[in-house]
Amino acid sequence: MRPIRKAVFPVAGLGTRFLPATKALPNEMLPVIDKPLIQYAVEEAVAAGITELIFIAGRNKRAIEDHFDSVYELEKELLGRDKLELLETVRHILPDNVNFMVVRQHAPLGLGHAILCAEPLVGNEPFAVILADDLIDAQVPAILQLVQAAHQYQGSILGVTTIPAAESDQYGVVTGRPAGDRVLRVEHIVEKPAAPGVDCIQGVAGRYVLESGIFDCLRQCERGANGEYQLTDGIALLLETGSPVYSYRYEGTRYDCGSKQGLFSATIAMGKKYHGLQV
Ligand code: G1P
Repeated sequence: MRPIRKAVFPVAGLGTRFLPATKALPNEMLPVIDKPLIQYAVEEAVAAGITELIFIAGRNKRAIEDHFDSVYELEKELLGRDKLELLETVRHILPDNVNFMVVRQHAPLGLGHAILCAEPLVGNEPFAVILADDLIDAQVPAILQLVQAAHQYQGSILGVTTIPAAESDQYGVVTGRPAGDRVLRVEHIVEKPAAPGVDCIQGVAGRYVLESGIFDCLRQCERGANGEYQLTDGIALLLETGSPVYSYRYEGTRYDCGSKQGLFSATIAMGKKYHGLQV
């Protein structure tokens, strides 16, 4: 497999679960303590050696671009006041060798449609997908774990976690046969199925490494669950083409920061762990 240099960040969602907070603020800019969710996601990608960041954005997402840009007035002010540590934190969000690109998704047609919008910038090479509202606190960055698995197994890798079956209607759910420690060779994937008669499922949770063949598959997809073009349906077609797809149960704690409970839990846990805060 070729090196994975590019990551796609779908950030066009409306974040309705956090209204009114997200009326003017992109939901990806909601903070966990002092960093917006999107910055955790970008830092994870950069730590995995990814240098091309592709944001699939909608209207009202300008704050994300601004966040990764330099702010001359602020930098000048911090320098003048000798606040050098703060200056570093606003100045070096992105290393110099990392590029930032934005594509507009003109309508909220689903995750599959969002990924297809990245095709002109991704081209014919494998790429990562990172959903910023899945915040993963891990010793080895989750997307790096997937990138390593992609090289080892020579195929697309879906980051999964074990989830109670009752929550199957919130996830892309995979089944397959064991192919290694934490790894399944995926045989089936379904978006938001009814709860199967088992205790636990393997649910896709916010991280993917995909072969570029996914784009042709996504082009063939019809609208699926929730009337949207689903990435999961594209992956199901990719399987049919014979392209190898594996799931990897990544190590780390995942917080579903697309929900109030997840954002709350992440704030408490990470505030304690990294900032010495107490409840
Ligand atoms: C999306 C994907 C789903 C995945 C989930 C969590 O669903 O469509 O397959 O399991 O993210 O990463 P959403 O949460 O946008 O409904």
